Amino acid sequence: MTDDPTHRAARFVGQKEGIVNNTLIPFIREFAKAPTVVASVIPSGKALARQVTSPIPSIGQPVVVELGSGTGAFSRTIQERLDGRGRHIALDVNERFTALLSERFAGLEAVTAGARDLSALLAERGLGQADAIVSGLPWASFRHERQRELLDAVVDALSPQGAFTTFAYVHARRFIPARRFRRSLADRFDEVVLGRTVWANLPPALVYHCRRPQPRQRDHRTAGVPGHAVAADRFGAADASAADQHCW
Ligand SMILES: C[S@@+](CC[C@H](N)C(=O)[O-])C[C@H]1O[C@@H](n2cnc3c(N)ncnc32)[C@H](O)[C@@H]1O
Repeated sequence: MTDDPTHRAARFVGQKEGIVNNTLIPFIREFAKAPTVVASVIPSGKALARQVTSPIPSIGQPVVVELGSGTGAFSRTIQERLDGRGRHIALDVNERFTALLSERFAGLEAVTAGARDLSALLAERGLGQADAIVSGLPWASFRHERQRELLDAVVDALSPQGAFTTFAYVHARRFIPARRFRRSLADRFDEVVLGRTVWANLPPALVYHCRRPQPRQRDHRTAGVPGHAVAADRFGAADASAADQHCW
């Protein structure tokens, strides 16, 4: 590795976050090319990876989908949890990321595609709905229509008993796209639990654990109707800390 300022900064962050440096440089490079698509300067850290992958079943042959897999910040933990069981499909729109992922992990299937095509991609592989969908997508940088379209794709592709996890950055939680995204989650899942803040991540992040995807007809037409706001009230659930509930 050379000693120019970018590499020095990458080395510093890599050491702090425990990120393997040979994935950090490609990540920063792709961010520089497409900042709104990659939407983060550095990959997520191990503490966040542990939280977002926690619902992956520890028994059986689960179908696990990773959306916006980037350089594989969550892929390693998913592979460790699966330990050779089931299927691991990792989707990203960036072909350099999927090529890198295929080189790094023999046990996963890296696909260059948008999250919108998720159900079709599963069907092409003879797979039904996913047991777990782990998202690294930059929801807050998507426009409203895009957020809705991609969340609908998640709901369609997730088994009724499946789990969906995703994260948001703490500093952005009060911004309009982040608030809109939380409402969209509440419209689409019967249970949305806010996990503990992952302060060890750079930047600190929040994890949403979503279960029981709801049929499409509840979407939007019922949002805001008295009696249908119930899902939003369930957010401050069991394992959220008092501080997290307050921030919500
Ligand atoms: C914030 S990065 C997260 C990468 C990695 N999961 C992590 O946590 O470090 C967002 C990733 O989502 C990918 N992405 C953006 N829009 C996408 C879409 N519509 N479908 C699939 N991947 C997408 C980007 O290319 C990028 O790799």
